[in-house]
Amino acid sequence: MTKYFKIEIVSVNLTLNKTAFMAKKIKHKEQFQNFNLVVFGGTGDLALRKIYPALYQRYIDGQLNCKYNIIAITRKTDQEDHFRSQVRLFLEKSLEGTKGFDTGINEFMSNIQLVIAREPSVQGYKKLKEFLENFKGYQNIYYFSTPSSAFGPISKALKDSKLADKNSKVVLEKPLGHSLESSITINNEITKTFDESQIYRIDHYLGKETVQNLMVLRFANNLFERAWNAENIDSIQITVAESLGVEKRAGYYDQSGALLDMVQNHLLQLLCLVAMEPPFALNANEVRNEKLKILRSLRPFTKESIRSESIKGQYTRGNIEGRKVNSYLEDIEKYESKTETFVALKTFVDNWRWKNVPFYLRTGKRMKKRYSEIVINFKQVKHNIFPSKEEMNNNKLIIRLQPEERIELIQMTKIPGPGGYRYKPTALKLDYIDTFEERFPEAYERLIIDVIRGNQTLFMSQDELVAAWTWIETITNSWKSTNSKNVLYAAGTWGPGDEILSSGESWITKKWKNK
Ligand code: BG6
Repeated sequence: MTKYFKIEIVSVNLTLNKTAFMAKKIKHKEQFQNFNLVVFGGTGDLALRKIYPALYQRYIDGQLNCKYNIIAITRKTDQEDHFRSQVRLFLEKSLEGTKGFDTGINEFMSNIQLVIAREPSVQGYKKLKEFLENFKGYQNIYYFSTPSSAFGPISKALKDSKLADKNSKVVLEKPLGHSLESSITINNEITKTFDESQIYRIDHYLGKETVQNLMVLRFANNLFERAWNAENIDSIQITVAESLGVEKRAGYYDQSGALLDMVQNHLLQLLCLVAMEPPFALNANEVRNEKLKILRSLRPFTKESIRSESIKGQYTRGNIEGRKVNSYLEDIEKYESKTETFVALKTFVDNWRWKNVPFYLRTGKRMKKRYSEIVINFKQVKHNIFPSKEEMNNNKLIIRLQPEERIELIQMTKIPGPGGYRYKPTALKLDYIDTFEERFPEAYERLIIDVIRGNQTLFMSQDELVAAWTWIETITNSWKSTNSKNVLYAAGTWGPGDEILSSGESWITKKWKNK
């Protein structure tokens, strides 16, 4: 069995773990301006699962030290009781594993109001306006958690109702359109009411602790930054595998597919953080500009490259952890669909630092296991002085984002004892859970707090969005013009190319390597 070395400097006495932490109210020094958070789509899944629990956790933590109202906007009537019980359910769920303190659910919930707005118009927003007028001096944050086709009409109605001023902010959930053109149209509609400095485009991957740690790993450690280039790196893999299927989002997903649902935003943002130049300072302008340069340097796909450098697939029936699961077509209740639930791409960042280093991006639904990871594959040593015939493995830096957050540095190590210089790969391993006592906040906690405090660093700019769409369209157009088809894969496998993956090489197929 491989022996792991622990990095001494960060080892701590582990008495708590993440699933049984003691919540404590911390005295946060930063004082926020009072706010109203108005959630359009306020009774929807995202609001219930993510937005309210995120705020609730910040409340428990003592960070919501100002006055605030959370206003859930709904178009339906007569659902107040149901809504409140749903909110409570999800708040309680977010407490799982927490013990030993007064949860304050009732106090927190007393700040949540349900307001009916049947349509985006002055008339429709009358009740909302009456409510907000009671809270002069509060900043108004509008959270659009609806399909993006509604973003324009809502923005206009807010403007016509005089509910948006220069202190207001707007938070936009993905997907922002379904193409470059539609995303620009939506943006043009929103910017009639809000300017770029007021717009917060959420990509929840940027709020994940391990994703934020990518910046620290790269820019607070001289060791890695020195080797972070085409001279030393052979290839980079970014994988987001999910065991979930499309759940209750068949309508949305069938219009998007894996490319638009995951690559266009989450995987590209990860790629940016791995590939970007060090920003001169950690602020929104500098960080976003560096990411933008990467997005603009992505090599466009062509009819030729799409054939050899992309795979798309769709899941059929299968087994996940002993449970039978349906095919994609059964999940969406259709006889046919061209939508891909798996995509793998080989791409390049055409700039000085990354010349000819392949970046492999892969994501799929109904994979064998849920895991997300970034693997930096270093080049072989230049000259092998050892007599052993065994192949020397590359050094690898493996950054596991989820479910277990971990960093591993794979290195060749001498096997102790006689027999000459025999070596094998071992790992220097840092498990977050063993290293830190702190609870890991959900991505939305960090992001919503950043909206309240007015920090756009972890949000996408419009320029980034345009650059991402421009590149994505080289894929969709090339797939279309070459009439690319989905390769079917059984749910519970690693997707197309499974037979090669079983060699233990995580998702980087020999087929791909030999290209
Ligand atoms: C969302 C996608 O943005 O991210 C979902 O729309 C996907 O399809 C989800 O399941 C994955 O997020 P996480 O945080 O579970 O990796």
